[in-house]
Amino acid sequence: MIDIHCHILHDLDDGPHSLEKAIEMLHAARADGVDTIIATPHFNPATVPVIAVRRDELSVHAQQCGIRLLTGCEYTLSDFSAELDKTILPLGETSFVLVDLSTCSIPQFMEQLAFKAGLKGFRIILVHPEKLLSAKSMRGMIDLHMHGIFFQVNADSINGKSGRLPQMTAEKMIAAGICDFIASDAHNIEYRSFEIQRAKSRITALFGDDAAETIFELNPQLLLQNKEPVSIAFKRKSLFSRLWK
Ligand SMILES: [Fe+2]
Repeated sequence: MIDIHCHILHDLDDGPHSLEKAIEMLHAARADGVDTIIATPHFNPATVPVIAVRRDELSVHAQQCGIRLLTGCEYTLSDFSAELDKTILPLGETSFVLVDLSTCSIPQFMEQLAFKAGLKGFRIILVHPEKLLSAKSMRGMIDLHMHGIFFQVNADSINGKSGRLPQMTAEKMIAAGICDFIASDAHNIEYRSFEIQRAKSRITALFGDDAAETIFELNPQLLLQNKEPVSIAFKRKSLFSRLWK
């Protein structure tokens, strides 16, 4: 599996503070079925030049674990907006960029920003909207999706670790066809680890194999080919069909 959002590079942000801790995360990722990690530290102009250094330090260990290590960045909305006129670090060699809304409502300028990003050759993936927006914002999220903004849900939201409301919003996003990716957003192995397999099992149980394959396998593969994810509104299985599977 490909994990498109992960804070695994050491001594850069609130991820691991040492190379040893980062290596522990590599092993946890591999045990969870991950074979490609896009390391996405929080954007900080002071540490951007260090990202490639940290990647190179960790790469040899990643290879030993059977993991391909790529890099990107996670921007706040304001940083992305400001940096768009300078240099943006997308996910790997793609035109996709991780952006955190960093607010509990959808700003009015989002569609305009997506348009401007498109002119510069970038496509926005909003990270973990289910943790920031309630299901009441579903109409607004669908509108953003129609304007070419994609969504990445966190595996721990699917697993209920962020509470029932983010979990319900995430499930409604899948039913509405706007959950394009599910990623770990892992920061450590203690309390913000991978658990992608657990999330995949839950999505398989709730929405079926096609939903799990599309969101966890196909869409990240398409992303690495710089292609848009497949957006399908998956029907939630009835309790009866889940019980009799
Ligand atoms: Fe993150």
